[in-house]
This record gives sequence, C-alpha cells and structure tokens, in this order.
Amino acid sequence: MEPAPGTGATPPALEVRGLRTQFPGRAGVVRAVDGVSFSIRRGEILGLVGESGSGKSVTGFSILGLVEPPGRITAGQVLLEGRPINGLSGSALRRIRGAEVAMVFQDPLMTLNPVLRIGTQMAAAVRAHDRVSRAAAWARAEEALAVVGIPSPRARLESYPHQLSGGMRQRVAIATALLHRPKAIIADEPTTALDVSIQGQILAEVRRLADATGTAFLWITHDLAVVSSLADALCVMYAGRVVERGPASAVIAAPRHPYTVALVGSVPSGHAPGARLPQLAAGLPPQGPGGAADAGCLFRTRCPRATPVCATPPPEAGFGAGHTALCHHPAGTTA
Ligand SMILES: Nc1ncnc2c1ncn2[C@@H]1O[C@H](COP(=O)(O)OP(=O)(O)O)[C@@H](O)[C@H]1O
Ligand code: SF4
Ligand SMILES: [Mg+2]
Repeated sequence: MEPAPGTGATPPALEVRGLRTQFPGRAGVVRAVDGVSFSIRRGEILGLVGESGSGKSVTGFSILGLVEPPGRITAGQVLLEGRPINGLSGSALRRIRGAEVAMVFQDPLMTLNPVLRIGTQMAAAVRAHDRVSRAAAWARAEEALAVVGIPSPRARLESYPHQLSGGMRQRVAIATALLHRPKAIIADEPTTALDVSIQGQILAEVRRLADATGTAFLWITHDLAVVSSLADALCVMYAGRVVERGPASAVIAAPRHPYTVALVGSVPSGHAPGARLPQLAAGLPPQGPGGAADAGCLFRTRCPRATPVCATPPPEAGFGAGHTALCHHPAGTTA
C-alpha cells in the first residue's frame, strides 16, 4: 500500500512527476516523454514496458539529467527519497549519479572500459565517490561481484571485459551499479542481448538484491515476458505516455488498455522473449495520428476498440489497488 500523503511516512525511493522531454523533429516537436509519472518504493522493482520508440530510454536518461541537446526536459520533477534532483547543477548531479542513482545499459561496454581490468575500473568507481584506500576499494569490488553471483570473484577482478561472457559482463555492470548502495538503479534493457536462461538467472539475482539491499529498480524492457514474473509493478508506455499501470500480477492477469491486452496476448506461453504484436494493425509511428500535439488517444489508429470519442483525451479508468488505464473503452468493461 502507498502510504497516505502527509503522514510523515517514508517517501518513495524514486519518484517522477509529470516528466516531459522533447526533441525537435522535421515534422515538428517529438514528445518523446509526454507527462510521465510513477514512484518506486525501497526494494521495489517497477517494470517500464512498451515497444521500441515508446520513450522508455528517454525516460531513464531524463531521470539522470543525461538528455543531450537539442533534446530538452520541458517539465516535471524527479525526487530521490523525496529530494528533488532535477535542476541541480552539473557537479551536484554528478555526485548523485553513480552514488545515489546508477544506470545499467543494454551494452555493458557502455560502462565497462575494454582496456582496463574489471578490478581497476570497479575500484576507480568506488574511489570516485568514497575516499578509501586502493586495497579497500578492491575489497569492495570483490564483495560486489560475489553479491551478484559471480564465481571466483577475486580472479574475475583480474580479467578484462572481453574475457567474460555477455552474461558475466552484465553482472559486472550490475555489481558496479551496486557499489555505492544506490537508492535506485535504472536498468535499460539490461538483459535483452542475453539468452533466455541467463536472463532468468540475472533477474532472479536482481529480485534477491532488491529485497536484500532495499535498492529500488526501474527495469526498462520492450519484452513483457521478461518482467512479468520479476516486477512488483508495471507501467506500460505508448507514444511517450504511461497508458496502464498497476501491480504486475493484476496487469498481467487482467490487462485493461487495449495496447496492454495486445502485449500480454503476444507473450506466448513458451515465453519466447521479444515477440511482436501479431493481432495489432501495423499502425502509424507512435507520435500519433494527429502529430505531436494530438490530445486524443494515440493508439486509436491501431486499436480494435476505437470509436470516434477516442480522438478526445482518454480518461484514467481505475480498477482498484492502483491499477489504472488511460482509455475510453477499457477491456473487461462495456464502456
Ligand atoms: N537523440 C534523439 N534525437 C531525436 N529524437 C530522439 C532522440 N532520442 C530519442 N528520440 C525519439 O524519442 C522517442 C523515444 O525514444 P526512446 O526513449 O529511445 O524509445 P525506447 O527506449 O522506448 O525504444 C522516439 O520517437 C525517438 O525517435
Ligand atoms: S481510448 Fe479508444 S483508441 Fe485508445 S486504447 Fe482506448 S479504446 Fe482504444
Ligand atoms: Mg530504449
């Protein structure tokens, strides 16, 4: 249960309010993130799902203040344990990044330097934020590798990234993100490149880590099968907006937004990740039928339940326990 506001209860580990991020485009402004809000409690895993181009990565980059011009965050707040971190100066933000909120990318080589030993770079990451001896930094690195289930962690510290398998490299990236016991980790498609059984092992470790350390995870993926059994809660993004949210079990068992219905339906019982959306019309690019300023439901060109009213802003329909969908005619209702 979300604590009632104003009761002095612990604020969420990570909260995003009304985030908007835009890019100039040839056909006008691209609203990559268009009013996204969510909160993640300590030890909670929030799955942010949606197909490619829906705005998931830009959401992650925006939280960390990593949007490059001409991209621009035009609205919204990001709070870490109730403290606003957007609008901080470059150096203040750099102190927070890595230490209080860390990021894990699809390609671990975005964070791992190929020409340095694992131990050298992890120790440098420790010492970037904490004044400890080299030996103490190496010991912290070794401990972090053990925590993510890497066998013979001391020997692995001597390895170069290319000497490890893809799954091991991604574990190293997660271990590096965990070095400072951050309040939150943003993981952007971190297991997409890995085979299914390795993905499963890593996700099981992450579930355990979230429980044991209290770190909040924003787990970004285009693949609903990957997060359905791991996440506590889900936010489904379409065209820059969160169109459905709720406890993961409720969203998977009874999806309400027609887009989520299609996503859930496209997850075969065999759990082949990365499945397409077979029953959806191909549709237009996710910036929507009427261009960037379209206030109607942007899914209406692909939606089997669409009616003329769908060209007007969809209301937020509630289904209990924080489960909501932005839709005029949610599934399972006669509306
Ligand atoms: N650097 C950029 N310049 C222009 N448009 C961008 C840039 N980065 C992302 N976008 C646009 O923002 C939208 C969301 O992108 P992204 O967040 O990467 O999607 P996802 O991670 O869900 O696949 C897309 O329409 C994409 O084209
Ligand atoms: S608002 Fe209309 S078009 Fe959009 S998802 Fe709901 S039924 Fe479909
Ligand atoms: Mg992405």
